Amino acid sequence: MSSRADVRYQLIHLEEVDSTQRFALENLGLFSKNTLITCTSQKAGYGRQQSKWLDSSKNLAFTFVFNHQTTPAESHRVALYLAKALNQTLQDYGLETLIKWPNDIYLQKKIAGILIDYRDGKFIVGIGVNLAEDFEQYEKTGIEVEKTQLARIIATKILDTLSEDYSKVLEYCNVNSYLYDREVEVKGLGLIVVKHLDESGNLHYLKDGLEHAINMTVFSLKK
Ligand code: BTN
Repeated sequence: MSSRADVRYQLIHLEEVDSTQRFALENLGLFSKNTLITCTSQKAGYGRQQSKWLDSSKNLAFTFVFNHQTTPAESHRVALYLAKALNQTLQDYGLETLIKWPNDIYLQKKIAGILIDYRDGKFIVGIGVNLAEDFEQYEKTGIEVEKTQLARIIATKILDTLSEDYSKVLEYCNVNSYLYDREVEVKGLGLIVVKHLDESGNLHYLKDGLEHAINMTVFSLKK
């Protein structure tokens, strides 16, 4: 794993910030190239649906702004590219993490979340990894992580992953799925057994022994 500076983006490091995501959104017009925003301490981070994101200076919190061409029909794929990049980086450190589509990473419980905004051809991706919460787990694996270095490694992995074939990314996300073969309760469907995601963004599942498929964008898995 290399921590050398990646010329494909610039780095802005803030000692203290309310939210790296808010900072990125408010200053978007000033970033003429891909920009990684890291911080020593984030005081008022937020997650999807404006939920509060755990505030601890041990946790990793950063936002990565990058240009990426996509079509509305394919934009949902970006979530899987990001999930692969983040999960693979954590696995490279020896953590047996899995992806809970489309935006979370699990190690028994949720340890990382991804927040995706999109404005004028730019993706603004906020990532939080709870290093402090699972500190014992991390100590067991012998990981020693410097936060800004880890953010750099993830940003580099994201740019590398974005040039991969979607079929390869999809296969990785299916093989590393936290939900595969799990029974979950879904509003409107009841209890289902989750199977794989297909190329069109449909989630396959078993219900009463029969296989069905539903578009992932029309519902979210709660568990
Ligand atoms: C989620 O699981 O709901 C997504 C959580 C995203 C949290 C990160 S921490 C860095 C960036 N700044 C924020 O305020 N939120 C994101």
